[in-house]
Amino acid sequence: MPRYSITTFGCQMNVHDSERMHDVLRRAGYTEAGGPDEADVLVLNTCSVREKAEQKLRSEVGRLARWKREGEGRVVVVAGCVAQQEGERLLKQLRTIDVVVGPDNIPELPGLLGDLALGGLPVARTVFDLDAPRFLVASPPPASRAAPTAFVTIMKGCDERCSFCIVPHTRGPERYRPSDEIVAEIAALVAAGTREVTLLGQTVNSYRDPLGALPRAPGASADDPDESEFAALLRRVAADVPGLARLRYTSPHPRHLTPSLLLAHAELAVLPRHVHLPVQSGSDRVLRRMIRRYTRAEYVARTRALVEAVPGLTLSTDIIVGFPGETEDDFAATLSLVREVGFKGLFGFKYSRRPHTPALKLPDDVPEGVKGERLARLFEESEALLAAHLSGLVGTTQEVLVEGRDKERGHGGQGGALWSGRTGRHEIAHIEGAAELDLLGEVVEVSIARANKHSLQAELTEAARAAARPRQRGAAEARAARRSLPVVAAEGG
Ligand code: SAH
Ligand code: F3S
Repeated sequence: MPRYSITTFGCQMNVHDSERMHDVLRRAGYTEAGGPDEADVLVLNTCSVREKAEQKLRSEVGRLARWKREGEGRVVVVAGCVAQQEGERLLKQLRTIDVVVGPDNIPELPGLLGDLALGGLPVARTVFDLDAPRFLVASPPPASRAAPTAFVTIMKGCDERCSFCIVPHTRGPERYRPSDEIVAEIAALVAAGTREVTLLGQTVNSYRDPLGALPRAPGASADDPDESEFAALLRRVAADVPGLARLRYTSPHPRHLTPSLLLAHAELAVLPRHVHLPVQSGSDRVLRRMIRRYTRAEYVARTRALVEAVPGLTLSTDIIVGFPGETEDDFAATLSLVREVGFKGLFGFKYSRRPHTPALKLPDDVPEGVKGERLARLFEESEALLAAHLSGLVGTTQEVLVEGRDKERGHGGQGGALWSGRTGRHEIAHIEGAAELDLLGEVVEVSIARANKHSLQAELTEAARAAARPRQRGAAEARAARRSLPVVAAEGG
């Protein structure tokens, strides 16, 4: 039986696509290898959002030439955004590659591998499924064996044209999944033990139900071009899947943070008090050149309204430094926005010129050294905000969804932490002194003992300890291990 191994680069969409590839390959009779050395088929699921990510693929493929020579019949598959972007060209440039498969063509992978095994030539399949969009669903996990957290795709592609971004090119136009399918997938996951679902999409809150089956959400005005049916979907999931503990989503576009979404946050207890809302820059001049379609003031007003609707809600964001023409004043505006909004988490990136993007017309005129220096100043600012926030939580009581066990090399040595998870606001919490309990998938009450640089150290409250199950050796480990999807290079975004 042929064995495969998948290496994932990039964002959560890619992590999710890799899960679908695992499923497609297993159903076709492949088994997962212990690692690349034991595999017959090696899949690289690639990212091209920044040039560095794309270079990673090229150096990885360079190394694989030797891997191929060392085993007979070994096959290299390139999937993901570089596959979609380069298609056939990749086969010509990098002779080590046998199959190039785009994100919309994952179901065809076993067939392509089969043709190759029969002596077929290297092949590229990168066609968007525009007429009949497919949303692959994993086989439902067996009862009570599902991971505590799961991703569910609700839309794919992107109709925005942010001038720096290659995603509209690599993922195609927006296509939405029927609400019935979304709800059914979430219900099946929850029935199998999942507690938290993250809805995925490039502009997740532009969602519209292709079936037209959702009633208009409270607060949604028919005349507002930024309104969508996202709030209506959130309401339907909350109503139809009452067993779901947390419903997150990523990534929303600030343009669609509309009154209906604010109301949903104010009214639905299942929505956690944290939103990741990419802003990219704090300078109106730069935002305009990025074609982000909102101003700084609009971003501030909308996030302020959200925090007023949900007291204590925290925000995190994505920021690009060194966009063409970004002056020191523009960058100062970004720093002041970070302080003004008080982001508790931040992914920062140096601008990277990408093929097929409108910003190619602009000269990449901020020197690399200046980009690096701005990024460092940005992180300094955000780290200080996070540190103040985390230390402010010491002594409070929080609810943590336990997602798994700390790795041996992790916080195991610090006071015997074993379990870790996230608070409702997405802060990472390590739970100490609970080694003998089985907490996986439980929402437990903890008190915060200390703040680390990026996480919290916590202890179970007396009530939570009394309610917890003792750990049966073996069972919890097996369930925790199910979560181990190898992500070698999270790009953060
Ligand atoms: N809407 C998407 C955004 C995908 S790209 C989502 O769901 O997250 C993720 C982040 O990468 C963007 O928010 C942006 O901050 C960054 N990024 C995109 N293109 C970039 C480029 N050319 N250079 C640097 N950073 C970029
Ligand atoms: Fe879409 Fe990329 Fe902008 S995914 S919203 S074009 S950052």
